[in-house]
Amino acid sequence: MLNNNISDATKYFIDLRRHMWVAGIELDLRRLIWQIAVTGKYISAKIHESNRKLAGLKNIYDEEQLALDRSSDRILRNQLEFSGFVREYASEELDEIIKIGKGDEKYYITADPLDGSSLVDTNLAIGTIIGIHNEPVPSQGRKSMVAALYITYGPLITMVYSAGKGTHEFVLNREGEYVLSEENITLKQRGSIYSIGGLKRDWTENHARYVGFLDDEGYKLRYSGGFVPDINQIMIKRGGVFTYPALKNSPNGKLRLVFELQPMAFLVEQAGGRATDGTRDILDITAETLDQRNPIYIGSPFEVEKAREFFAAGKD
Ligand code: F6P
Repeated sequence: MLNNNISDATKYFIDLRRHMWVAGIELDLRRLIWQIAVTGKYISAKIHESNRKLAGLKNIYDEEQLALDRSSDRILRNQLEFSGFVREYASEELDEIIKIGKGDEKYYITADPLDGSSLVDTNLAIGTIIGIHNEPVPSQGRKSMVAALYITYGPLITMVYSAGKGTHEFVLNREGEYVLSEENITLKQRGSIYSIGGLKRDWTENHARYVGFLDDEGYKLRYSGGFVPDINQIMIKRGGVFTYPALKNSPNGKLRLVFELQPMAFLVEQAGGRATDGTRDILDITAETLDQRNPIYIGSPFEVEKAREFFAAGKD
């Protein structure tokens, strides 16, 4: 690993490839993470080109425009196809897993190519979420996941990755390089912010009691409605909790286990945080289907353990 006390003056010269090489990450995995990070540039260009327009619209030449999330999926798939590292590609945008290699490649990818794309017109941040497995998906998160990353398209484009050796943030600079900005992100034991998805009137009793506890403790609400920036906020502020809970009429919540929750759980655990559905670790849940949804409480240890306590003690 690189020196944790690396000075600010030095760290801005460390680019993603060098960081992964020094950290001793295996060559193919390094190349794959690099390739995906580069693809983030193309997706970002697509977002700009779209001029914030979304699906099903026609452009000035009366041609159908692809939804931004579908075109991001195409971009990602095209980049990974025949890369030599990826055997199968599972995307939130597709009904089926696609075989994109020859069959002898090491890695299986899960992708949420453009999470929160409905926020594009508001100019809020959105992101790409990737899981990298060494076994076919859907499978047991913790056992098969070797790396995860997300890219945030906000005022800056940033990339946060972990290959099981800590969680690190890189910023895309004007020269088009990803340079190290936060190494070995470590969440505090306890934070001071919460992000909560879902309608309040649909909360379960346990969840309402938990949020009441956070309110009494003086937590501040910070919710953008984009999973990537909401998790990124917890990473960069070094703590707090994000939850998309079970709701009365959707007991599994909204977010997808394989594409959204497990990659984020991997990154947060690598940063010293935790992630649970209320009783089980998110990474210990075996996905039965590709589009499985689960509730989530994710962030610094204190808040996540508190959520578990409320669910263990509660009735619903
Ligand atoms: O899954 C898409 C998504 O936009 C996430 O990025 C976000 O966390 C969630 O949905 C927001 O849902 P809601 O609009 O119900 O708050």
